[in-house]
Amino acid sequence: MEEQRTFVNDLILRLQREAEWIASKHPPPEFYTRFKAPLALARKLFFTNPVLVRLRRMVEPILQEDMGHGLFHSTRVGIDAAALIFVELESDHIGHIKVERLMVLGLICGLLHDLCRDEAGHAEAGAREAEEILRKFPLGPREVKCICRAISNHEAFIAPLPCDPPWSQLISDCLYDADKFRWGPDNFTHTLWYMVNHQGITPQELIEKFPWGMTGILRISETFRTPTGRQFGPDIIETGVAIGKEMYHYLLQHFRQNAHD
Ligand SMILES: [Fe+2]
Ligand SMILES: [Fe+2]
Repeated sequence: MEEQRTFVNDLILRLQREAEWIASKHPPPEFYTRFKAPLALARKLFFTNPVLVRLRRMVEPILQEDMGHGLFHSTRVGIDAAALIFVELESDHIGHIKVERLMVLGLICGLLHDLCRDEAGHAEAGAREAEEILRKFPLGPREVKCICRAISNHEAFIAPLPCDPPWSQLISDCLYDADKFRWGPDNFTHTLWYMVNHQGITPQELIEKFPWGMTGILRISETFRTPTGRQFGPDIIETGVAIGKEMYHYLLQHFRQNAHD
């Protein structure tokens, strides 16, 4: 999926390209090689399911790309959430129509979870906004409630509210894990540069903030909520951290001198 780039200067674009180059030298995390089939099904549903096609068109203009949490991020969260739902249900022997319906709910969660990213308490605000939007869609009340609860539960380091029935809990946990998978390589190839651009951070300031940011990323490994997330999530985070360390050395090599001017 092509990203929209709206960076204010070429330097940020060059740094993002360097991060992409560094990332390309690392093998993809195992989640993306082992679960290719569920990921492909999730992608197919995302681009063909009529509810998702309509919803995507509706929310694309209001997603906040400038913060790195626009359509690119939301699509990737949704697809990983839907694949996680499939994998978690594989041993349950439930019908494929029901599994696909739950995957569609996971994709909707991904698309809508960061609608209010720039607001304080963005998870709660996003859940309220999602409830409003989903009135216009052919979803049952329990499905809408499930999506909204999952969205309000997606922030890290905040205790989630319980969900009922169990399929609702599954969707909430899968949305969380898929969103936190983005703290891996995506953080360094995508999100970081949008934040740097949006907040006007210089390379020298980035060097100063980098070690603190990496510590925060490592903490996320302890928080995955599904068995699949707990098994494969830390590898995604470690891959991101390895890319981040190389990027940090690149920044030190090219910008540290200036930091002491
Ligand atoms: Fe969020
Ligand atoms: Fe997110």
